[in-house]
Amino acid sequence: MIKLQVNSKSYSVEASPQMPLLWVLRDMLGLTGTKFGCGMAQCGACTVHLNGEAVRSCVTPVSRAANQQVTTIEGLSSNLSHPLQRAWLEEDVLQCGYCQSGQLMSAAVLLREKPDPTDEDIDKAMSGNICRCGTYPRVRKAIHRAAQLQKEGGKQ
Ligand code: FES
Ligand code: FES
Repeated sequence: MIKLQVNSKSYSVEASPQMPLLWVLRDMLGLTGTKFGCGMAQCGACTVHLNGEAVRSCVTPVSRAANQQVTTIEGLSSNLSHPLQRAWLEEDVLQCGYCQSGQLMSAAVLLREKPDPTDEDIDKAMSGNICRCGTYPRVRKAIHRAAQLQKEGGKQ
């Protein structure tokens, strides 16, 4: 039995310690906002936070997350109040949407570490999140917008 804290809730799962965290999140806990893309740490679709840091859940064994804090897109905010979620809607970033929860989770770490990121900071921080629809210009614009919202007092 492996104990997990996901989005501030406690879970116990019967899983092999080597099972990817992504499988546990999606198949065992029903948190399907996190997506499976490449399965090889190449696309960023599966990005979640482990103790506040962005990790690729497709290559993170669940044992690494035992008794640690995991946050998925479902836990970014309970009501779309996070500045990134607001900015994403305002800038209409989504196309097919598949990559976007991973994009948001990477962007959340960036904004925490650099509240007013430059284009270069954004490109660097987001370079591991691939979007086959090519939404990169809107992602960048939305991150600048979220930085502004955060400065104006939005929730981090
Ligand atoms: S599915 Fe994990 S990085 Fe692509
Ligand atoms: S919005 Fe379609 S893959 Fe990024």
